[in-house]
Amino acid sequence: MASGDLLSPPRHVAIIMDGNGRWANERGLPRTVGHSKGVEAVRRTVEAAADFGIEYLTLFAFSSENWSRPEEEVSVLMGLLRRFIRRDLAELHRSNVRIRVIGERDGLQGDILPLLLEAEDTTRNNTGLTLVIAFNYGARDEMVRAMRRLARDIEAGRIAAEDVTASAITERLDTAGIPDPDLIIRTSGEERLSNFLLWQAAYSEFVFVPEYWPDFDRDLFLKALRSFANRDRRFGGLSASKAATAVAG
Ligand code: FPP
Repeated sequence: MASGDLLSPPRHVAIIMDGNGRWANERGLPRTVGHSKGVEAVRRTVEAAADFGIEYLTLFAFSSENWSRPEEEVSVLMGLLRRFIRRDLAELHRSNVRIRVIGERDGLQGDILPLLLEAEDTTRNNTGLTLVIAFNYGARDEMVRAMRRLARDIEAGRIAAEDVTASAITERLDTAGIPDPDLIIRTSGEERLSNFLLWQAAYSEFVFVPEYWPDFDRDLFLKALRSFANRDRRFGGLSASKAATAVAG
């Protein structure tokens, strides 16, 4: 499928990569095989996003609630992320991809945090696609951290209560400096946000894809982008055609 008809791709696409476990179960394989296949879909998707001219791609890699999964599955997921950074960082860097990590960093054990920091640091000055990895991420946690920062700033007299505005909150979120997602895609047929980017999703469009994440590919990505291209985004106002009618009438 060609991507030439994507005249103006969304600036920021965020993806809830769901269905690795079910993909594996349906094939009589361990869930962890689904996660490994999921990493291949991550590679395909990053490459496609860069080709499509998307500026920001956020991937929900590990939620703050995922720690409650069986220890073995958590350790496989950590291993996959570790391997992804070790093996793919050089290639991502060569492709001018800039990596940002969002999520709670305090309390991360072992070499995971140093690896994530290395990925951010190595690619800091790249100017191509920004790949935002949501790791140990939960939107409510993120908002609590932002509110604490605000409270500390007020307590220290750096800002007044009247200065607490939507942008003062936005600037204190993990996503500071990253535009809100235009499009959020969730695979596997589930239709919920699951504590992902709650503040930032205020005006996002949603595309729910029935296929499981390991099957996500360039064609399914393009299909989601085409569905987005047909949406009439009003941001609480009127659509361009209705606004014209209102003025004329
Ligand atoms: C959801 O499937 C997927 C996850 C919890 C993790 C996603 C992680 C990866 C694709 C691999 C690591 C990521 C990177 C960026 C290298 P599920 O297990 O909830 O599936 P189910 O709902 O069918 O059980």
